[in-house]
Amino acid sequence: MERAHARMQGDDELGLEFFGDYFAYAPAALALRECVRLAAMRGVELPEPILDVGCGDGIFARLCYPERQVWGIDINPNEIRRAQSTATYSTLICGSITTSDLPEGYFKSAIANCSLEHVPDIAGAFRTISRSLAPGAPFVLIVPTPDWTHELLVPRILDSVGLGGLARSYRDGLDNVFHHVHLYDAKRWAELLGEAGFAIDRVEPIVSSGVAGAFDVLLYPSVSGWLVKRLTGHWTLMPPVRRALAFVPKTVVRLLAAAMRRDIESMKPGEIVVHARKK
Ligand SMILES: C[S@@+](CC[C@H](N)C(=O)[O-])C[C@H]1O[C@@H](n2cnc3c(N)ncnc32)[C@H](O)[C@@H]1O
Repeated sequence: MERAHARMQGDDELGLEFFGDYFAYAPAALALRECVRLAAMRGVELPEPILDVGCGDGIFARLCYPERQVWGIDINPNEIRRAQSTATYSTLICGSITTSDLPEGYFKSAIANCSLEHVPDIAGAFRTISRSLAPGAPFVLIVPTPDWTHELLVPRILDSVGLGGLARSYRDGLDNVFHHVHLYDAKRWAELLGEAGFAIDRVEPIVSSGVAGAFDVLLYPSVSGWLVKRLTGHWTLMPPVRRALAFVPKTVVRLLAAAMRRDIESMKPGEIVVHARKK
């Protein structure tokens, strides 16, 4: 298994060209992380038809591989409704990836962007995905690492002033908010994928300390988005206005990421991109 080269995070690697499009529909903290994932997917060829597992609202798919033939599957009917309104997918399935009956050997590639860490029956999910893929088809999995809260700004400050207990509570609290069922390192994901009939091409670490720090700061203004979503089902209310104002959080991201920049190989990355292939 080859690890991608150490990289410093610049504008290009933060994927900030996508920021305005994402921020129009999502809170700043989420928009930043999605931009970093989109940057990691640049140049990754996903042949059609593509299966998008845990597709959510479809914004990621629309920006990542526009105009492609993509099927989306999600267990949450509200997400499926939102995905429908973005007209990203040729086919949408509302159901669980662990039990859905997908056409056998049909898809030429699949992606699961931050979805499978939420699925308790991970072996069942991999079985369904593997069955639905053609032999040799690439499968990209983006997942948080067990250390995803390590580089966040607030607990790092708390640690540095001797408040380790508070820092731990902050990290644990955030972990609970995001409901992750599976937090594994690259080796464990490779084992699970291997048992399901996948080979691993490479694993790329993403989300450096600069991104994690900026994400932590942006979480606070993003709470309003969470409230709006609870009330209306949408993260944001006025997409065109937000698009026009995107330069404000984008500038904050640039400044924070530059101030906290470190070589990703010298820290604990927040997420990994696993490039697998059906054997
Ligand atoms: C963090 S969201 C990611 C959404 C999307 N991939 C994106 O890029 O925006 C995780 C998604 O996984 C979906 N999900 C959770 N369990 C699932 C399951 N068993 N089968 C299908 N989708 C599932 C959730 O409903 C949610 O939309």
